[in-house]
Amino acid sequence: MAIERTFSIIKPDATQRNITGKVNALIEGAGLRIVAQKRIQMTKAQAETFYSVHKERPFFGELVDFMISAPVIVQVLEGEGAIARYREVMGATNPANAAPGTIRKECALSVGENSVHGSDAAETAAIEIAQFFSGNEIVG
Ligand code: CMP
Repeated sequence: MAIERTFSIIKPDATQRNITGKVNALIEGAGLRIVAQKRIQMTKAQAETFYSVHKERPFFGELVDFMISAPVIVQVLEGEGAIARYREVMGATNPANAAPGTIRKECALSVGENSVHGSDAAETAAIEIAQFFSGNEIVG
């Protein structure tokens, strides 16, 4: 399988509970490498752009408000089949449906406060990485 990069966000519910190290340990334990990482306060415009695919959904406003409610950690993860691998490691969007050992089962509070985001495909991974990182900030 090819080496890929995917984009990850450790969300406000996790930064607020001071469990970003726990999330990173699960990421690294799954064989993914954190090749870029920074803690930022997302702006409303950044959050609206990032989640624009969901703008017609009833939860869009709530989602944007949540993502700007506290700092987040944006990351680039690298590894074999990293996009699918990270989605396995995250677990189901709703933690109630997430498998044991996944980040969302171990850390998330609800479908909204679900601790992490990960890209769903190679095309979106490239777009999402480019929204938050320049090339020289990613060191594999
Ligand atoms: P994420 O993978 O970041 O992509 C879109 C997000 O929308 C998703 O994780 C959830 O956090 C959020 N989301 C999905 N469904 C709901 C919902 N019913 N209510 C609130 N947020 C939701």
